[in-house]
Amino acid sequence: MRILIIGSGGREHALAWKLKQCPAVTELFVAPGNGGTAGIAVNVPIKDSDIPALVAFAREKAVDLVVPGPELPLTLGVTDAMKEAGIPCFGPVAACARLEGSKSFAKEVMQAAGVPTAAAGVFTSRVDADAFAAEHGAPLVIKADGLAAGKGVIVAMTDEEVRAALDLMFEDHAFGDAAGTVLIEEFLRGEEVSLLCFCDGRTALPLPSAQDHKAVFDGDKGPNTGGMGAYSPAPVLPDERLDAMADIVTRPVLAEMARRGTPFTGILYAGLMMTEDGPKVLEYNVRFGDPECQPLLMRLKNDLVDVITACLEGRLDTVKLDIEDRSALGVVLTSAGYPGAYPKGMPVSGISSAEELDDVRVFQAGTRRDGERILSSGGRVLCVTALGRDLRDAQKRAYEGLDRLSMEHSQFRSDIGLKGLKRLGLA
Ligand code: AMP
Ligand code: GLY
Repeated sequence: MRILIIGSGGREHALAWKLKQCPAVTELFVAPGNGGTAGIAVNVPIKDSDIPALVAFAREKAVDLVVPGPELPLTLGVTDAMKEAGIPCFGPVAACARLEGSKSFAKEVMQAAGVPTAAAGVFTSRVDADAFAAEHGAPLVIKADGLAAGKGVIVAMTDEEVRAALDLMFEDHAFGDAAGTVLIEEFLRGEEVSLLCFCDGRTALPLPSAQDHKAVFDGDKGPNTGGMGAYSPAPVLPDERLDAMADIVTRPVLAEMARRGTPFTGILYAGLMMTEDGPKVLEYNVRFGDPECQPLLMRLKNDLVDVITACLEGRLDTVKLDIEDRSALGVVLTSAGYPGAYPKGMPVSGISSAEELDDVRVFQAGTRRDGERILSSGGRVLCVTALGRDLRDAQKRAYEGLDRLSMEHSQFRSDIGLKGLKRLGLA
């Protein structure tokens, strides 16, 4: 079986690592890939947004399965285009990828499906937005409608901040096309957690819970990033509640998308706020999260090709996920300055030494190979991920792995997993 993975992050390195272990896999391509995927697969210099080139490549190499990592190709219709070419692709069609690509669409689907979520207004006019903001008052959350690489959300705690956020969205067009439509949402309090499900159009099979760390600094301080670390399971959503949670936040959306004639196949990721009034959906992603994918795939014991094939063939109801009892935790090493400007081309050393530790993997993201050397080439450089007998042990082992790495001008959070440990009464 020849597989093409699309993307270049730590998630895609983890997908390549996991798929490489499947006996059916004979060739693995990653477009465009990174320094890590170069070591275990063939990197192909095609951008994740170049759908015609991806289809042409998949045809030329007689690829049997395409696995897109990021949201961009999915919202651009890579699954539709591959389908047209007769190539199975594990991800939702564009009509379903809108659940991530448009926050107003996601809100409308949630309301139609009866999924609990923050109350919100959708605005294309500044005057109406101001009137709504004045009526409700801070704190409010202001969201640009479209994809904005995680930057289109402003949590405004004062009326002053609400005004500034609306200025930014409506007047400065800070989010380009993404800001033509703006959502103003009720501010929710609680702990965040992610529930990812394999979906085959009808059936949703939950993976264990995971928790991301979006802010750049310890204690959830500083600007939001793509994610500074993640672990699984998150004690705020224990295994015994996964199925009931999928009934509330995932299966109704699956039913609604099927009812609309566009069934959802792929990974549906619900970003949840666990409030005093129960779970509320903050957002849907239509793919694996990065870095949640790294600890989740280290815990998944099934053959990933088998699970994906069952999704594509509509027989996920015959599959049982086999999950490692141990916890997994990943810490992201970034270039200093990220998510702002940062230097590139820094040598990274110690990767093989870190991987000599049992059940420690270094999933590379913003790296490239230069002969034998690995050089940084992006904001998030890599994610050291470890299994441990419990959350505390996984944390200890991931940081042990990180200790063996060195890169000048780098940074990382030293508190990945702390919220989980606190909830367990261990910190
Ligand atoms: P989103 O991309 O919609 O998940 O928003 C990004 C981040 O903003 C979330 O991970 C939350 O930390 C925060 N956020 C989004 N919506 C809300 C809300 N209604 N109340 C409080 N925080 C929110
Ligand atoms: N880590 C959050 C995301 O992948 O969107």
